[in-house]
Amino acid sequence: MTESHIIQLPASAPRDQLHRPLHDLRISVMDRCNFRCPYCMPRETFHEHYQFLKPTERLSFEEITRLTKLFVELGARKIRLTGGEPLLRPNLSELIAELCAIEQVEDVALTTNGVLLEKHATELKASGLNRITVSLDSLDDDVFTKLSGGFKGRDQVLNGIRAAQEVRLLPIKINAVIQRGINDHTVIDMIERFRNTGIIVRFIEYMDVGNRNHWQLERVVPSSELHAQIHARWPLHALPGNYHGEVAERYGFDDGAGEVGFISSVTQAFCGSCTRGRLSSEGVFYTCLFATQGLDLKTPLRNGASDDELLNMIRNTWLQREDRYSELRKNLQEHPLRKIEMYYIGG
Ligand code: GTP
Ligand code: 5AD
Ligand code: SF4
Ligand code: SF4
Repeated sequence: MTESHIIQLPASAPRDQLHRPLHDLRISVMDRCNFRCPYCMPRETFHEHYQFLKPTERLSFEEITRLTKLFVELGARKIRLTGGEPLLRPNLSELIAELCAIEQVEDVALTTNGVLLEKHATELKASGLNRITVSLDSLDDDVFTKLSGGFKGRDQVLNGIRAAQEVRLLPIKINAVIQRGINDHTVIDMIERFRNTGIIVRFIEYMDVGNRNHWQLERVVPSSELHAQIHARWPLHALPGNYHGEVAERYGFDDGAGEVGFISSVTQAFCGSCTRGRLSSEGVFYTCLFATQGLDLKTPLRNGASDDELLNMIRNTWLQREDRYSELRKNLQEHPLRKIEMYYIGG
């Protein structure tokens, strides 16, 4: 992707009710995860008897590839594979190779918690994957263990990041969700560790996704506050966006040590330029991270629907889309009762 990437879509690409095209497709390939982050898969709910999808209930690679080609016909150019934890999906590299072979696809990226990255980095690179994003909320051992739901995997994640650097799955980004009183005191350490490495740390405001994370506004640390804290230590300057609809605001260190990003999904919603569609591992298409319902594509797919039929279903869903949850959040008297969960749709 070039610095000044501008969306160029086929004339037939549908625009939603707010005139937004479909440009990014986020595909969850696995509803399971090897972590139990309290804000995403709290252990009290996702215990050892929790019923995850059966393998046959998840879309097969063939089904994902077929649907992706249809999304590409409707304008999707950027693909991101997510989970749960996508590296728990057996033979994931085979799917990546299929997706990379689709001609109009410009970028295939993966979001992972990094635990299995060292093991898979080489084959991921060989499959054609462009880059990775690692979710890592703190480098402090105790905080890491608490935030991952009891897993002591910090060093494994750091080894994974190193392996990804070695095979050049670049640029590597780190997503850190910051919660007040939980990990906000470890932000400066995180920057210190990754300055001058080419790795881009992005701080995400804690969001009210799903129904189980006991979200409270007081836990949100506004990006403006983090920016001020970092800027006081290492002066920053704003950088232009890489592409239309980018969720992160980019800042460069004045001393040339690299860049950081801020994803202000609560204090500065970016719904106006949201071009993202999400496909769950069981084949439901969602038009918003905060959706309460989606379009089931698996049933028609497995009942023999033609490409044209599926294409029309997706197109109509996108044409009707009017989601802008983050922009409406502050005015909502009542929040939707049943939102989809982050582990299920992958952020
Ligand atoms: P790049 O292509 O590298 O810019 O990343 P991306 O836009 O695919 O971002 P990524 O998947 O790393 O998203 C980072 C985080 O931003 C996610 O984990 C979410 O927490 C948040 N985020 C991403 N997309 C959306 C969105 O559409 N709505 C909201 N509210 N948050 C989002
Ligand atoms: N708020 C913001 N980001 C979240 N993520 C998971 N839950 C939340 C939340 N409540 C992030 C993860 C990961 C991505 C998949 O979503 O940290 O980076
Ligand atoms: Fe944590 Fe990501 Fe797994 Fe959720 S999917 S439990 S945020 S590692
Ligand atoms: Fe897009 Fe929904 Fe997020 Fe707004 S809240 S940016 S519409 S996914």
